Amino acid sequence: MAKVTYVTHDGTENAVEVPAGLTLMEGAIQNGVEGIEAVCGGNCYCGTCRIYVAAEWLEKLVPAAEEELAMIEASGEEAPNARLACQIPMTDALDGIRVTTPEFQK
Ligand code: FES
Repeated sequence: MAKVTYVTHDGTENAVEVPAGLTLMEGAIQNGVEGIEAVCGGNCYCGTCRIYVAAEWLEKLVPAAEEELAMIEASGEEAPNARLACQIPMTDALDGIRVTTPEFQK
């Protein structure tokens, strides 16, 4: 288990424990965290699991695959720290990570 804090656009914090092996998207859904919709169920084609990751954590994540980068670009996202939570597996190294969710995701 590792701690993840999901922060909504208005600053509301939801700190939950996520087991290694689940994705950051699955950790949010299983804990009822708002701000991650995940319409496609983790298949990298909806873009509604978008998160913004602070620089100190960004470098610890698995690099985004071409498929993820294409989905982010197709959705019109321009923030360089945007990722798709369904493409990020939780690991012990990510214990304490904080991610922010966009206003357009409920
Ligand atoms: Fe659809 Fe991540 S859940 S892209």
